[in-house]
Amino acid sequence: MSKARIAILISGRGSNMMALVEAARDKAFPGEIVCVVSNRADAKGLAFAAANGIATTVIDHKAYATREDFEAALDQYLSSMNVEGIALAGFMRVLTAQFITRWEGRMLNIHPSLLPAYKGLHTHERAIADGAQVHGCSVHLVTPQLDGGPVLLQAEVPVLPDDTPDSLSARVLAEEHRIYPQALAWLATRIIEDSE
Ligand code: GAR
Repeated sequence: MSKARIAILISGRGSNMMALVEAARDKAFPGEIVCVVSNRADAKGLAFAAANGIATTVIDHKAYATREDFEAALDQYLSSMNVEGIALAGFMRVLTAQFITRWEGRMLNIHPSLLPAYKGLHTHERAIADGAQVHGCSVHLVTPQLDGGPVLLQAEVPVLPDDTPDSLSARVLAEEHRIYPQALAWLATRIIEDSE
């Protein structure tokens, strides 16, 4: 079976990346994780990827004068790995419309809220401050509108009366790890079908 060649982009811990790597171990999973790219050398997830035999690279955004230069280096690496689809997994750089347009329909992001609620940062803090009773996570196709692309999957969790941002984040994260592999399987299948 041919598999879609997927890159995962991270900036830190990489727990969603790990969930995707674990899911992709299944013979029946339609995607292969061919590389993990980080914009930060200290991203904890890099060691896990390397230990699992996945190509890793650091493309440090601070080493480039402009976003476009950074993204050119990123694109060059992705082409060198024949990447067909991208999963953003805690990748904390905003990408330009040009880069996103090149990958549109082939790039996913996971976001820790029930979009369109709480785009941007500090989603758990904001949900608690608002007295929200339900919170969650979303996987969406990336479009030039920040956190605004079509939502593929969501999972809800309750917000409990004594929740802190940490306790709520942990409850949401468990759902992220469940739904992101499902959404990536959908994208990988679509990429394979499009190439046939
Ligand atoms: C995850 O909760 C992810 O949804 C969030 O960062 C965390 C990364 O954790 N992403 C965003 O906020 C994107 N704007 P991880 O590195 O353990 O996957």
